[in-house]
Amino acid sequence: MCGIVGYIGTQPAYDILLQGLRRLEYRGYDSAGVALMKDDGSLNVYKATGKVANLELTASGKDTDGSIGIAHTRWATHGEPTDINAHPHLSQSGDIALVHNGTIENYAVLREALTQHGYTFKSETDTEVLVQLIEYIKEKNHCYLFDAVREALKQVEGAYAIAVIERGNPSRLIAARKSSPLVIGIGEGETFIASDATPIVGFTDKVIYLKDNEIAIVEQGKPLQIKSLNSNKPSSINIQKLQLSVAQLEKGGYDAFMLKEIFEQPNTLTDCIRGRIVDGGSRVVLSGVVENAEKFRYANRIIIVACGTSWHAALIGKRLIQEMCQLPVEVEYASEFRYGCPIITPRDIVVAISQSGETADTLAAIQLAKEKGAFVYGICNVVGASIPRNTDSGTYIHVGPEIGVASTKAFTGQVTVLTLLALCAGQIRGTVSTDTVRKIGRALINMPKTIKEVLKLNEPIKDLSRIFTYSHNFLYLGRGYNYPTALEGALKLKEISYIHAEGYPAAEMKHGPIALIDNEMPTVIIAPSDSLYDKIVSNVQQVKSRGGSVIAIVNKGNDSMNELADYCLQIPEVPECLTPIVSSIPLQLLAYYIAVNKGKDVDRPRNLAKSVTVE
Ligand code: AGP
Repeated sequence: MCGIVGYIGTQPAYDILLQGLRRLEYRGYDSAGVALMKDDGSLNVYKATGKVANLELTASGKDTDGSIGIAHTRWATHGEPTDINAHPHLSQSGDIALVHNGTIENYAVLREALTQHGYTFKSETDTEVLVQLIEYIKEKNHCYLFDAVREALKQVEGAYAIAVIERGNPSRLIAARKSSPLVIGIGEGETFIASDATPIVGFTDKVIYLKDNEIAIVEQGKPLQIKSLNSNKPSSINIQKLQLSVAQLEKGGYDAFMLKEIFEQPNTLTDCIRGRIVDGGSRVVLSGVVENAEKFRYANRIIIVACGTSWHAALIGKRLIQEMCQLPVEVEYASEFRYGCPIITPRDIVVAISQSGETADTLAAIQLAKEKGAFVYGICNVVGASIPRNTDSGTYIHVGPEIGVASTKAFTGQVTVLTLLALCAGQIRGTVSTDTVRKIGRALINMPKTIKEVLKLNEPIKDLSRIFTYSHNFLYLGRGYNYPTALEGALKLKEISYIHAEGYPAAEMKHGPIALIDNEMPTVIIAPSDSLYDKIVSNVQQVKSRGGSVIAIVNKGNDSMNELADYCLQIPEVPECLTPIVSSIPLQLLAYYIAVNKGKDVDRPRNLAKSVTVE
């Protein structure tokens, strides 16, 4: 959470930083701020509570000159979202300005020690402690900013990505990271710093992903230097080519990124399966699995770790892998796994799923699994993020940047890759027949067309949403492969419309939630014509006979459900294991339109951030 941007070059920094903040706003929007240094070394700092647009208003008409600056968009951890707690934070003298993404865990101890040395604090943040500590060390040791930053970071426990500038030195910026991402963009006579590559897109395609415990000295007119926190020896610099375009980062005529991302799914799934289903659909080749065939052949167990929507995809992955690979699978919330004394053996494969590749708990779970000797496989979207860099092997879902906080296309991409993984590993283990692979492979090849069909439900769902805009509670029910879809549908609604929603395995309803049902509580039931269809029909009847209204997701041609349910949404028929991909899309649209009807900011729901980089 929190996004940081830095610029040093020859162009006016303010516009570049503001654009960067807008692209990073998905990481948090409790407040925003910018520090700009003019050529004469003077520093101007502007901050505002709320979104980046408020910062623009605050800075409007003020002096925003300077070709070096740092900026921040905040997701509050320590201290409320106020102007005072907004970054950049300044040192006591006002000479050093710093932006930070992460959490300084020992900030209270450091703050106490600095207070003893006469430092006073304006904010409640952990970040202000760090900038004061840098100044304290700089003055005590009579050293340069770089040495002071380095020394301060050695005293810090926790996670950080920081950018620091110093009044009077308009040609130098220091950046460092540990457990929070930081990307450096190398342009012509200019350098960019950012939490992810999006602010850099359009300026340069040359990027460096800073590693943990590295510190960079960015000096105008001089080559970039990167050092490790503990050594003066320059680190090797690995420049990579960025594969992102500006168009991918824009709304492209849609009202919201979320809607754009829902509608992108035919294309994103084309990209996701490209080159991975061969021989007319009868063979699946996932290079990360094929290259590690022995691991998958002889694995005893797979443990999948993830959070949020990625965890829902993991539940679907469990069924897929168990069915295709005859291999036991456990699914764990990464946050529970890491503290749950997990028993891991070298013949376990730990699969970590994450859209962003930066989720702190998932990263920590990976670390733990590696320490215990497991082979760790990542399923990630953001290329070059921390998770793909910290796993033994893996697969990108390749669905392009997901900017809406509510995950949509990443979910369907994750389920698609999990299907491919299950099929590919099943072929290696000899546990899946060629007929099954062909049936599912062909359906996946056809999936973009299938999803285009599903998206025709857009208008009917928009109409339907109006009926339920003011409901206070929702129940989502599904069975088998679609129990996780029910969880995901409920999460989408909660996140963006703030309506309480619960997802449940349909049969479990009788064991408690049925008590909630009355004529004010709509129930969304996912009821494709699969092996559990007859059972779910009974669940629909149980809801109806208690006065509840039912929105049923059924297959095309299933008109009999019209007799039972209040509203039916018909989706194309696909093999049972692929039904979550198809049935999740009407749920995404329903959540989207209900939130829009309520006037909510769907791309930036309250209290949320796109990637949760703190515990
Ligand atoms: C999804 O809509 C959520 N915003 C959230 O649950 C998300 O899936 C979760 O934070 C995990 O993120 P990751 O996939 O980037 O690790």
